[in-house]
Amino acid sequence: MERTFTMVKPDGVSRGLVGQIISRLEDKGFRLVGIKTLVMSEELAREHYQEHVDKPFFPEILAFITSGPVVAMVWEGPEAIATIRKMMGATNPIAALPGTIRGDWGLKVSENLIHGSDSPAAAEREINLFFNVHELLN
Ligand code: RTP
Ligand code: MG
Repeated sequence: MERTFTMVKPDGVSRGLVGQIISRLEDKGFRLVGIKTLVMSEELAREHYQEHVDKPFFPEILAFITSGPVVAMVWEGPEAIATIRKMMGATNPIAALPGTIRGDWGLKVSENLIHGSDSPAAAEREINLFFNVHELLN
């Protein structure tokens, strides 16, 4: 069993894709152990995307990710981190395969619908950044 952090980004929320994205992960068999909606502050966005703060595209990420509500979630299941990354598809939706979330619903790298932790260390860090232990099922 493994837990991972995922987040429907502002484009996914404003386009009304939250339910369909959750359904895909439930249909696959993952268990939703925490969920909340929020508008990310600049401080939270800098912390969350700390590995990207010095990249040229960071101002674009920052403006976008704080532009509206997101839906933060924790999912649990076997190899949840890698499997959900697979279900998300490649970072650039143009390159993402059909059948993936980004491949089916996206066209822009800057608005790619969903975030998912990319390693066990990132999952632990991101889950703790967004959720208090009392907000997660055990
Ligand atoms: P995420 O962290 O959001 O789940 O996405 P990811 O792992 O697939 O991609 P990552 O390399 O972590 O990049 C974070 C976000 O930055 C934007 N990006 N823009 N303009 C560009 O070349 C570029 N490269 C990355 C994307 O929105 C990506 O999700
Ligand atoms: Mg990433």
